[in-house]
Amino acid sequence: MQISRLIVVAGARPNFVKIGPLMPALASAGIDAGIVHTGQHYDATMSDVFFADLEIPQPRWSLGVGSGTHAVQTGTAMIRLEQLFVAEAPDAVIVVGDVNSTLAGALAAAKIGIPVVHLEAGLRSWDMSMPEEVNRLVTDQLSSMLLTPTRRALENLAREGVDAARCHFVGNIMAESVVRNLEKARARETRSSYGLEPGAYVLATVHRPENTDAPGSLAGIVDALSSSPLPVLFPMHPRTAAILKAAGTRTAGSLRPIEPVGYLDMLSLQCDAAAIVTDSGGIQEEACMIGTPCVTVRRNTERQITVEVGSNRLVAANRDAVSSGLADALASSRNWQIPEGWDEAVSSRVVAALATGVIPLSGR
Ligand code: UD1
Repeated sequence: MQISRLIVVAGARPNFVKIGPLMPALASAGIDAGIVHTGQHYDATMSDVFFADLEIPQPRWSLGVGSGTHAVQTGTAMIRLEQLFVAEAPDAVIVVGDVNSTLAGALAAAKIGIPVVHLEAGLRSWDMSMPEEVNRLVTDQLSSMLLTPTRRALENLAREGVDAARCHFVGNIMAESVVRNLEKARARETRSSYGLEPGAYVLATVHRPENTDAPGSLAGIVDALSSSPLPVLFPMHPRTAAILKAAGTRTAGSLRPIEPVGYLDMLSLQCDAAAIVTDSGGIQEEACMIGTPCVTVRRNTERQITVEVGSNRLVAANRDAVSSGLADALASSRNWQIPEGWDEAVSSRVVAALATGVIPLSGR
């Protein structure tokens, strides 16, 4: 089935980074693609700044779903997306990544027979306690076309019995965003507005429930960062900020909490950091592209390729593990190989895959 009218679903910060390079590529291919913003992220620092930084066209539809439990957020998004999909009857719906809005888009479209295209398909952490793993697995099962960032992701899908005719290795769209924005980001020298010199600070982000909500974990991470040999700039997700405040955790020593920053400022800060400590999926990939050693505070990662090439290391959420991981990253070399297909042509390969036509699920 050929595609000329598409709806692109986006709702949370990492989604916006993925649709940045996608929208102009779809437009150049003559595809009428409109963005629906579910409203999962709504603060200016979590949403608007990404549209401005990445020059993403304004959403054609905004659903205002907001925060809630997983079921409330996913269910509300499904109800509103279904109404939109019925009214608009697009040829297909594109969902990206693994957030609740991704799952909501896939469920709402698949159930009314609209083909789903999943960009960033096939990533697996094999940890079903992660909401994102549940979202990835279900979304992939419901997708008519699966576009993967790595060859390993293709193998994961084959192992799960997904028809190879539906799967295309297109590379990592996050990497294309980095390539297209790196020069602009570097020129901002965002670190100078915090009085920091290149290579003389660490950048840290922590927002995953496994780290923020487990008693002791967040305190252990904060403790390790507070005693870092270099100052640690810490843009805080609103939930992390709220949890630290409620717990009365004092940030002291090397740790410098700041408001969340936009896409270009975050890239700029990553470029000039001596090392990065994070639990974000996207930052593991961006650090790999930029050439800054990364420490990931998680039990596992669906981005195994970053550990394999040597840009990233996994550490447990306690003071000693984070401190020694950071010491290891600060002492490590930066000459790893960029993974295959992590380049500026990912969106062109997405367009080429779409041109082959989607196979409706009923055609399986
Ligand atoms: C979501 C994604 C996660 C991704 C992250 C990036 C899911 C299951 N998780 O997690 O994979 O890494 O986005 O940020 O979809 N909040 C605000 N303002 C906002 C948005 C959220 O204050 O604009 C606060 C609210 O208290 C909200 C909480 O953050 O309850 C969590 O937001 P939510 O969208 O549920 O999940 P994230 O933790 O952001």
